[in-house]
Amino acid sequence: MTYTTQLQNGTELNRLYENDRPIHEWYRFVLSFPPHLVRDYVEKFSLDKGQIILDPFCGTGTTLVEAKKIGLKSVGVEANAMAHFAASVKTDWEVEPSELADFGQEVANRITATSHEKILSSDSSYFDITVFSGELRAFGVEQSKLLIKNSISPIPLHKVLTLLDGIERHKSTRLRNHAKLALAKQTVNEISNLRFGPEIGVGKLKVDTPVLKPWLCALDSMVSDLQEFRASSYAPATVFSADARDMSRYLSPGSIDAVITSPPYPNEKDYSRTTRLESVLLGFMSSREDLRRQKQRFIRSNTRGVYKADKDDSWVEDMPRIQALARSIEDRRLELGKTSGFEKQYSKVVLQYFGGMARHLQELRRFLSPGAKLAYVVGDQASYFRIMIRTGEILAEIAERMGYDVLDIDLFRTRFSTATKEHLREEVVLLQWNG
Ligand SMILES: C[S@@+](CC[C@H](N)C(=O)[O-])C[C@H]1O[C@@H](n2cnc3c(N)ncnc32)[C@H](O)[C@@H]1O
Repeated sequence: MTYTTQLQNGTELNRLYENDRPIHEWYRFVLSFPPHLVRDYVEKFSLDKGQIILDPFCGTGTTLVEAKKIGLKSVGVEANAMAHFAASVKTDWEVEPSELADFGQEVANRITATSHEKILSSDSSYFDITVFSGELRAFGVEQSKLLIKNSISPIPLHKVLTLLDGIERHKSTRLRNHAKLALAKQTVNEISNLRFGPEIGVGKLKVDTPVLKPWLCALDSMVSDLQEFRASSYAPATVFSADARDMSRYLSPGSIDAVITSPPYPNEKDYSRTTRLESVLLGFMSSREDLRRQKQRFIRSNTRGVYKADKDDSWVEDMPRIQALARSIEDRRLELGKTSGFEKQYSKVVLQYFGGMARHLQELRRFLSPGAKLAYVVGDQASYFRIMIRTGEILAEIAERMGYDVLDIDLFRTRFSTATKEHLREEVVLLQWNG
């Protein structure tokens, strides 16, 4: 394999620039990458209007929103229903901004007109439980079981569910999704007890907190962003709720000119946990069965997401480097005498992860136009007994075996691992498909 590694100064490269806030900030999660990264590779790949970009792991739609702003057509694929919803709304600029503003006011007026919900209207008022005669709205038993304990306190949840009901009762179904995304964003960021650092956790419990005002504020931002971006020319974007290892029902052969994406890494992060509260709130998940179905669509990247029937490991059976990596993780486990169910799965995750990525790269080939360029942002990991997993290098090796040309591996940024005392690299693997 021949490729060079370009070193860059990684500091501050992941920050969302002030100018990038419009639309991108309608909803983001800790896994989102920064829009400037997309712009850099659009430029590097010399993409023209008329060409199509794909993000097969599009998350909250950073690549698609950026492509739309630049005027390039794009397609996204995403397996997490909440992230798919966010990306779909963020790329739907066909709503009339003034109608969205009216929608917000009408919902707010209707809710605050009913006496016991007056409390929702004012930023300063807190819920006076002594004058509230009804029962607090709450999630059902099955829904509650899916949440991280104390994700949201009872009174804020009552207010959020009341507002959601108001949104759903409004006659305009066309504007509903924008309103719901604004509520999902503010529920996580302002109303819940959740903290991201970058692991998801619970911070100080908020007994009560304003709900209507933050929601109206998020809607206001949507309205002004739409006013700004609808005035310029923009390109269409389509988002599919699907698995990047099986895209045949959604993409046409030879239609994709570039891929800019950040797939999951084998880092023990449960991608379904990051979006759990808003997924339950908006009804994307109501039971353990829904959660399992959701997880089964993911590339395996953590021990809570591997299943007995998984077979993606067969795709890397003949790759000595990956087999040796899995063996060294298992050997280290035995050496350390670690016997928990999770620890026994570590080596399996590695095989299923790289197998899943191999399957995705194989699936992708028929949808690429000759000469298509690809950028995969991935990170090194050392989560399994501190054994270093050079994700970018291994992915490049898999891609080369699948017939892709490896053009380069750019360093995006480094993170210092206190566990291994080594710098973990976040890299952009650059590939080309020549047919
Ligand atoms: C690192 S995140 C991408 C974040 C995205 N670049 C953004 O800015 O929001 C990886 C995404 O891949 C999704 N994913 C995992 N397995 C998938 C699969 N098999 N097919 C499609 N998407 C998948 C996860 O749900 C997650 O949203």
